Amino acid sequence: MDNNNSDKNNELKIYTYPDNVLRAHAEPVRDIDDDLQNLIDNMIYTMYVAPGIGLAANQVGELKRLIVFDLYPRKEGRDPQVLINPEIISGEGKETFEEGCLSVIDFSAEVTRNAQVKVKGADRHGKPVDIEAEGLLAICLQHEIDHLNGILYIDRISGLKRALYKKKLKKKLKKKVSGLKL
Ligand code: NI
Repeated sequence: MDNNNSDKNNELKIYTYPDNVLRAHAEPVRDIDDDLQNLIDNMIYTMYVAPGIGLAANQVGELKRLIVFDLYPRKEGRDPQVLINPEIISGEGKETFEEGCLSVIDFSAEVTRNAQVKVKGADRHGKPVDIEAEGLLAICLQHEIDHLNGILYIDRISGLKRALYKKKLKKKLKKKVSGLKL
């Protein structure tokens, strides 16, 4: 183990369905301060440890409009992305993808979303960013921004499938699931 950064990054608790914090509307980030930088670093660390490819602040109990993601996590040369106050400007087309979520344990399901989205926000230093996304990036951004609005991907599947999940969760059935955790 490389211990160089172990005193800097903390693994945060990831809240899971049906916790209320996942249903709250996150507030815009106004101050880009040290506390925010620490939160960002800890969220990135937590995402990699989990492991997942995206994490929204609600999921770690912080009601701030902040997401982190890395579609292709590697051991070497990691390039985590941060978006503050992300907003979907427009969306086009339809794409169906098998989604999972670090906050929805032991489940995955197909979700249909826009195939392309334009998103604006700011990087971790507050510099404005515009993203034209398609493919997995478009899916990931829509999934994470949903989190900031208190929406989970299981809200976007059929009522029947959702009922199935609730039943399964109740029984605490353990089963290996496919799909990336966003
Ligand atoms: Ni998620």
